[in-house]
Amino acid sequence: MAKIPVAVLGATGTVGQHFVKLLIDHPWFELVALTASERSAGKRYAEVAKWYLSDEVPEEVAGIEVRPTDPGAVEDAKLLFSAMPAEEAQKIEPACAEAGYIVSSNSSNFRMDPDVPLIIPEVNPDHLALIDVQRKRRGWSGCIVKNPNCTTIVFVLTLRPLLDAFGVKSVFVSSMQALSGAGYAGVPSMAIENNVIPFIAREEDKVEEEPLKLLGKLEGKDVRLAPMRISASCHRVPVLDGHTEAVFVELGRMASPEEVAGVLGKFRAKPQRLKLPTAPEHPIIVSNAQDMPQPRYARNAGSVPGMAVVVGRIRKDPALKNGIKYLVCGHNVIRGAAGAAVLNAELMKAESYL
Ligand code: A2P
Repeated sequence: MAKIPVAVLGATGTVGQHFVKLLIDHPWFELVALTASERSAGKRYAEVAKWYLSDEVPEEVAGIEVRPTDPGAVEDAKLLFSAMPAEEAQKIEPACAEAGYIVSSNSSNFRMDPDVPLIIPEVNPDHLALIDVQRKRRGWSGCIVKNPNCTTIVFVLTLRPLLDAFGVKSVFVSSMQALSGAGYAGVPSMAIENNVIPFIAREEDKVEEEPLKLLGKLEGKDVRLAPMRISASCHRVPVLDGHTEAVFVELGRMASPEEVAGVLGKFRAKPQRLKLPTAPEHPIIVSNAQDMPQPRYARNAGSVPGMAVVVGRIRKDPALKNGIKYLVCGHNVIRGAAGAAVLNAELMKAESYL
């Protein structure tokens, strides 16, 4: 099988670096181009990427000349992975889709547009059908497909099996979010060292609205939002990678912590059945240790590092009707961003959209 040529837009940033690592040896995709802002265009990748990962800039890409981010600059690619700031993505992504590219994007713009598929492959793979609606409505030969916000992905992965088994009425989520989510220069070290910052701009809105679309039902040309209430409080903590989230769920019927653990631990979905290359064997790993999950151990757990989430401390919530509470931790830049967009593209390929 010939590999599909792909480019990363915004390849020098935190998410872009993870895209590069995930795509270098990908069995289906071949990385042919890296783009960034005009400031970086024309320079060598190793020179302009503020590499924060523990290993070196991979030699396959270190010497590549970074291109400007423009549909005309990536004509050797068919599929584009987007890790640009939302304001830039808002302009560039539609131009790319119009020019015929498939755009698998992590940027937060357009996520709630009715004709834009917002996908977690284990949660709502059927919503990919919105691609046809989008193309017809906008007259594009390409398309834009989004993955959700990093905090959203980590806990919504656990809500899918709970909703199917018991029903879900309301959810409270309190996040402890890693620094990498804000990008290399996002949070000054003088602000976060020895501290917690109880505010992340625009985060709680995304975390409260995106799950309703993800868990909603595709009816004809629209997604009917899931009828549940979500309340989020989001906080930045001095952890490099891995978001930890305390989740409190009012289930539709009573379930014991053991039943909940069984349902979460057994969860498998379409990416596992299709054996997509970036799909972990177990998307949710249940830990019985009394002091887990912790980001240092959870963020790379499972068969595909960074792609599983770890759940622990499942117990009854005495303050809620049919209440259950637990912690979940996942790699915010892999499962929560770059890995999410790569898995979306693998699903598109498996479903013949590529
Ligand atoms: P650059 O390194 O040249 O600024 P992060 O959010 O982690 O900082 O990453 C943002 C990514 O988006 C980087 O690759 C950055 O490139 C790129 N970027 C920023 N502004 C623009 C722009 N106006 N056009 C295209 N890419 C941009």
